[in-house]
Amino acid sequence: MVDAFTQLPVAVLSLNPAVDITYEIPKLIADQKVHALNSRYDPGGNGINVGRGLKRLGVQACTFCVVAGEIGRFLRHQLDAQLDQVSYQEVDGETRINGTILESLTGAQFEVSGVGPVVSTAQWEHLLDQFVTHCSEGLGVITGSLQRGLPKDLYAEAVSRVRAAGGRAVVDSHDELLRHAIEAQPFLIKPNRFELEALVGQPLTNQRAIVREARRLQERGVTCVCVSMGAEGALLVTSSSVLKGEAPSVPVISTVGAGDSMVAGMVGLLAQGASDQDALREGIACSAATVMQPGTELFDKETVDRLRGEVRVTLLSL
Ligand SMILES: Nc1ncnc2c1ncn2[C@@H]1O[C@H](COP(=O)(O)OP(=O)(O)OP(=O)(O)O)[C@@H](O)[C@H]1O
Ligand SMILES: [Mg+2]
Repeated sequence: MVDAFTQLPVAVLSLNPAVDITYEIPKLIADQKVHALNSRYDPGGNGINVGRGLKRLGVQACTFCVVAGEIGRFLRHQLDAQLDQVSYQEVDGETRINGTILESLTGAQFEVSGVGPVVSTAQWEHLLDQFVTHCSEGLGVITGSLQRGLPKDLYAEAVSRVRAAGGRAVVDSHDELLRHAIEAQPFLIKPNRFELEALVGQPLTNQRAIVREARRLQERGVTCVCVSMGAEGALLVTSSSVLKGEAPSVPVISTVGAGDSMVAGMVGLLAQGASDQDALREGIACSAATVMQPGTELFDKETVDRLRGEVRVTLLSL
């Protein structure tokens, strides 16, 4: 493994970050005011989560994000305190607010995703230029949804530019955004099983079917396909092997942020020159540690260190 000095540069793109508000309440009742037992504010959005995860793992990364208005100012304040390196693109409007309600009596969780600000072509082009410059010869993480009005092939454009600059693009997205991004031949994609099913237009009921579809994507130019399968762990199909990582058995408090934690763990280790096996193990340890945390809270490093040894990674002969 490469030491911290020789870690490859990592850039994370976050075009639609948010401030997450989480209320813990006993139970929602229609037409009645309910008083929160707890409320908290966290920076949110998939790219931001990946950035926060990398920071917790001690991996150097720069997050490139769009901020707007007063909510954006609040988000900047939080990110400046929680991330090492952030590059901001200011736009008009307001950064979105996402709301999560946790019902303590039922364990149910409700989530509302807010509407993000409008980003002009010149603004996202500028942010993309900076992102690509940072991750040339490194890893560029492209993740999450885009606000309305942005082109559906923006992630494909990002992947093409990362590749042209000599970097490796990692994409965790879905539907049209993922479909276009695949055409630009990213290094790694991390769909969950349902996202892969939607992509290929058929149910995938066993590992053999998942691996078959992953290989088809490789024939179209994707180097590695990691398919996450919730409590069943994940499959990583690379050019030379098919690896299965079993998720450790952990108490599940909230699965929010599991996918982002998996991406952070894998990218962190790949940037340090680790093997595919170790990268998958790290991704699974990080994501399992995150499901043990409430709401939007991510893994803590000590839990990851403890779980790592419990993750079994095997080579499949499929
Ligand atoms: N119940 C669980 N127990 C242990 N680990 C889990 C559990 N659920 C998820 N994980 C871990 O999190 C990883 C990602 O989960 P999942 O496949 O649900 O991704 P996702 O749907 O992309 O998540 P997200 O909703 O955060 O985007 C899994 O591969 C696994 O390692
Ligand atoms: Mg996901």
